[in-house]
Parts: sequence; C-alpha cells; structure tokens
Amino acid sequence: MKFEIKVEKVKESRISQFDPKNIGFGKIFTDHMFVADYKNGEWTDLRIIPYGPFSLSPATSSIHYGQAIFEGMKAFASVENNIDITLFRPSENAKRLNRSAVRMAMPEIPEELFLQSLDSLLKLDRAWVPRTEGGALYIRPYMFATDDFIGVKPSENYRFAIFCCPVGPYYNKALRVKVEEDFSRAAPGGVGFTKCAGNYGAALYPTALAQKEGYDQILWTDPIEHKFVEETGTTNFFAVFENEIVTPSLTQSLLAGITRDSVISGLQHLGYTVTERPLSVQELIDRKSEIKELFITGTAATLVNLDGFGFRGTYHGIFEESKTQASKTVKQFLDDLKVCRISDPFKWVEIL
Ligand code: COI
Repeated sequence: MKFEIKVEKVKESRISQFDPKNIGFGKIFTDHMFVADYKNGEWTDLRIIPYGPFSLSPATSSIHYGQAIFEGMKAFASVENNIDITLFRPSENAKRLNRSAVRMAMPEIPEELFLQSLDSLLKLDRAWVPRTEGGALYIRPYMFATDDFIGVKPSENYRFAIFCCPVGPYYNKALRVKVEEDFSRAAPGGVGFTKCAGNYGAALYPTALAQKEGYDQILWTDPIEHKFVEETGTTNFFAVFENEIVTPSLTQSLLAGITRDSVISGLQHLGYTVTERPLSVQELIDRKSEIKELFITGTAATLVNLDGFGFRGTYHGIFEESKTQASKTVKQFLDDLKVCRISDPFKWVEIL
C-alpha cells in the first residue's frame, strides 16, 4: 500500500442499531469515514476516523461558490461465496471524480489514493455490508473546497472524504416521469457531464413542481430545443423498442453513468442491440406501440422501469410487466455479477 492512512477506531460500534431487514436509503451511516485534506498542493493527513460532523468556517468557499463534487458507488456481500465485500468498477468512479474535478477547477485525487482509502475503509466497516438480497453498502466519495475566503476564485484548500451507508432500493415502484420543457439541467459548455452538487440542487425546484402534478421524477430534454430526451433527475434513460434498445448518446450535458455503460455492455453481451443516439420525445410518441419498456439506470436506483411519461398534459402509459424481459434479464445479469454468482466476462468485479 502506497499511502499512509492513520486509523482511529470507534470505541463502540453502532452496528447493533442497524436492522438489516428495514434498511431504507441514506439515513444510517457506518462507524467510520475516510478524510484527507488538500493543502499546499498535496493531499495530506489521510485518516480514517469515527463517522461524525465536520467543523467548518461560515466562509467555507464551497458553500458560497459551489466547488463540490461527489460520486456514488456500491459494495456487495456474496453470501454464497463467503465473500464480505465486492466492488463494481471502482476505478471508473475514481476517473469520473477526476473529470468532475478538472471541470470545477479542483485538484484531482490520485486513483491509487482513491482506491486505497476505499479499501481500508471498507475493510474496517465490512460488517455493515448488507447480506440481504437487494441490499448494498452505498459509498459516497466527495470533495469540496474549504478555503475560508470571500471572493470568487478556485479554493486553495479542499477536503476529500468517503462515508458509507447500508441501503435497500432507492425506488420501489415503476416511476411516472414528466418530460421537462421549461427548465434545463445543463447547457453546452456547462457542467452537465460532471457530478457536481449544483446539478442536483438545480433540479430540485422543477422536480418539486412535477411532483405536485403527481409525477415521481422529471425527464430532462436537451437545453437547446427541448426535443431530445437526456436523463432523469437521478438516472440515465433507456427505451426498449422491438428490435433496438436506445439510450441517448453522451453529450456535454449528460452524466456518463457507470451503470449506463454497464447496462449497454451487459445487454450487448446478452445478445441485444443497443444504439446510443439522439432520441426525441416525438419519436417516443410516434413509435409508442413499438415500445416494450422504458427504464432508467443509476448506482443508487440500479435499474427501474418507468410506468410512463407525461408530455404537454398527456400521460403516455407504457409499463406492462410481460414486456420487461430486456430490463429484467440485464438487471439479473449485473446483480449476479456483482455478487460473484456468475463468472465475470468483463473483469469488472473486485473482491476485497
Ligand atoms: C447515484 O446514483 O449514486 C447518485 O449519485 C444519484 C443520487 C440520486 C443518489
């Protein structure tokens, strides 16, 4: 191991307060967290400490000017194989965090530092990885600017931290989405491809308006013409037509989902044809009778069907359980891979 990480363990674990049969999402945190600080041009003071609050200056620059980025990833337990922790494509998260960092004028994290800190933290909190079907340990690596300074410039100091929470499903039903034409998530040349905190904050108001109309989420359209489907507020998007599965091609305004990429490769491996191309709302409406299913993908959400989509006051119901073979098959394939139930043709799974 290349980096020295100091470890301060909790005096008493809180794990007995955690009920694996009633996990929920994002409310329970494991005993420890990893923290590192960027000072004088380098990452220093690498440490694992008990999970707990940070003390921050009121002038902390990320709170004012938005230099804050994050990742979402999951660890799994393979009960049948007696493996406590598997990770799914962790290097991809390290790389994406660094793409976000560059765009937000933040320092990159060496990939080995990212992976080693993850390894040490997960090994310490391994008892928290749920062993229940559908459960996982959600991992949140993130970085934010810590200068206490009022003035718009890149911060000189940053904190990188990782904490974990045992989770169940993020969504537990087929979702109703509203096609969003009035608001935009991101513009060409903007930060849509990054996982910066502001992308999510900016989505909250349009999402709340859609939820008042009875929708669960919004389906963003392109920021120029509002004609082409992009992604939902929390996931990427797929449409399964009779002979072709389509997902919007990546542009500067779309998040390059790691689950999206895994679903594309998984579907192709399973013999499906997947096309990454612009997909208009009009095409979804014109070819509605050919649509077998719509589904969305993300680390937190995994893979979830859409019930349908609302567009200009008309709701287009799509979901029919009997037509969801493609999503079911690829979800099962990826779920099996993650817990080493099948052999891994892609070498995506890492066992800690
Ligand atoms: C994830 O899927 O991990 C995300 O970061 C999205 C968020 C809605 C939880």
